[in-house]
Amino acid sequence: MDFTAINISVHGSLNSGATASAGNESNKPCWACHGTKTGIYANQSDQPVNDHGSTYKSSPRKCEDCHINGSILFNAPGLTEHIMPGQKLTQHITQ
Ligand code: HEC
Ligand code: HEC
Repeated sequence: MDFTAINISVHGSLNSGATASAGNESNKPCWACHGTKTGIYANQSDQPVNDHGSTYKSSPRKCEDCHINGSILFNAPGLTEHIMPGQKLTQHITQ
């Protein structure tokens, strides 16, 4: 798993409001999709000590869990386009 890549990606600051001990900061985005979340953020203290929770392999959070209006998690930007019940897709391209 490429930690550097995740941390410079669009999801690099995902879950950045979570608490983590020094040295575990780079795990924060992972916990957002793969970790236990008890409050607004998925904190280190929410994670199992020796193992991974069910969000690790069988049910990581999906795009729609965080991004669809009506079920926003982690303050993700809400989407109304590019989804099955979506609105007209508006492009933002400058030439
Ligand atoms: C935006 C959400 C998201 C983030 C952030 C994320 N993952 Fe994932 N990850 C997924 C999804 C979804 C899958 C399942 C892919 C599939 O089933 O094809 C996955 C799969 C994995 C797997 C493979 C599990 C298996 O055995 O099949 C590992 C390992 C993993 N992620 C580790 C990490 C680590 C480490 C980080 C942080 C550096 C991270 N992920 C960040 C969504 C995410
Ligand atoms: C665990 C919640 C979560 C999941 C799952 C997730 N995202 Fe995100 N996503 C976020 C958050 C939060 C941000 C805003 C990050 C920031 O502001 O730095 C974001 C930002 C983005 C952006 C940048 C939007 C912008 O306007 O800058 C894109 C594109 C994106 N996500 C696509 C996806 C796609 C595609 C998936 C599925 C593969 C996905 N996301 C899964 C939470 C999530």
